[in-house]
Amino acid sequence: EKGGFPHFMLKEIFEEPEVLRNALAGRIKNGKAHLPEMESVQSRIKSARNIQIVACGTSYHAGLVLKRFLEDHASISVEIDVASEFRYRNIHIDNSTVVIAISQSGETADTLEGIRKVKAQGGTVVAVTNVVGSTLARESDVVVYLNAGPEIGVAATKTYVSQLAVLYIIGAYFSQIRQDDDRVIQIINELEGMPTVFESTLSTINESIVQLAKEYYQYRHFMYIGRGYGYPTAMEGALKLKEISYIHASAYQAGELKHGPIALLDKEFPVFAIVPDDGLKAKVLSNIMETRARNARVVAICTEGDQEIGRIVNSRIEVPRVSEVLYPLVMSPYLQLFAYHAAVLRGNDPDKPRNLAKSVTVE
Ligand code: F6R
Repeated sequence: EKGGFPHFMLKEIFEEPEVLRNALAGRIKNGKAHLPEMESVQSRIKSARNIQIVACGTSYHAGLVLKRFLEDHASISVEIDVASEFRYRNIHIDNSTVVIAISQSGETADTLEGIRKVKAQGGTVVAVTNVVGSTLARESDVVVYLNAGPEIGVAATKTYVSQLAVLYIIGAYFSQIRQDDDRVIQIINELEGMPTVFESTLSTINESIVQLAKEYYQYRHFMYIGRGYGYPTAMEGALKLKEISYIHASAYQAGELKHGPIALLDKEFPVFAIVPDDGLKAKVLSNIMETRARNARVVAICTEGDQEIGRIVNSRIEVPRVSEVLYPLVMSPYLQLFAYHAAVLRGNDPDKPRNLAKSVTVE
């Protein structure tokens, strides 16, 4: 059932090209996002004053990417909160509130309580989930499914990739309704090519990531840093590493280092820098220099052909060049594989991390 792979997690990472195809199937027409399931809430999206995103864990990280996408391309301000905080906050909700709830399982207790509160106060809930007939799907106004198939590994991998793909489509859909940003046409166009991009990267990257994991799996700490669209990637990379390898990993906005966290760094505390060639690259590079000055080893994940970075870091992973919003997607399998191999090298079972359950149905 593991299809020749030693673990479900690895099998599911290698399913990502197919998962992307399924997430996008039928959802792009004439270069535009096509989501008939959202038609009934179209006018509410058009008139919404702001958007609220609610999710937990990895789904929250996918939500962070959507927040930035909507702000950049649909000219609307977006709030996001983890569901366990959202449900106890006194936020103003009325019939102009549109909430996007993201939950792979559709059964996460805090997320469900969050949307119940929204519904009780007249708001509209758009659900993004993988599970047909889940509680979230039943209780929301509209549902956009991931169609990713079941995920057995406890740590989310292929479903994160699938969430990002679906959220880009949703972001593009909001943009079409509210703003019509030409850049979105280019993003959709690239998104359509992503299954092929994933196929070629997954067929070549595994061995070099094994080597990288061998260099780093014995460290006790890791600090992931990023800015802009790189920050959710830093958070998700750190979460994956800590939950299956049990290496302590934290994530910071790279600009925040000097406000405290940089005090932790020394040669025993490596940094994983997310540094795509986007509008914030120069800023991240100067943050990397700050960490090098503390003797921290630095692994960078960057855009292919970036000579500048090679000169200042210890190790480098290169990803294909894409529009800046798509880097969280294109970088995902690399970070997942790094965490996977670190976990295996440390003797852990990555499919069943200690203390964790696949779906968190209690508060
Ligand atoms: C991490 C992971 C968890 C889930 C979180 C939310 O790898 O899987 O952080 O993302 O428990 O679960 P869902 O998306 O089912 O609501």
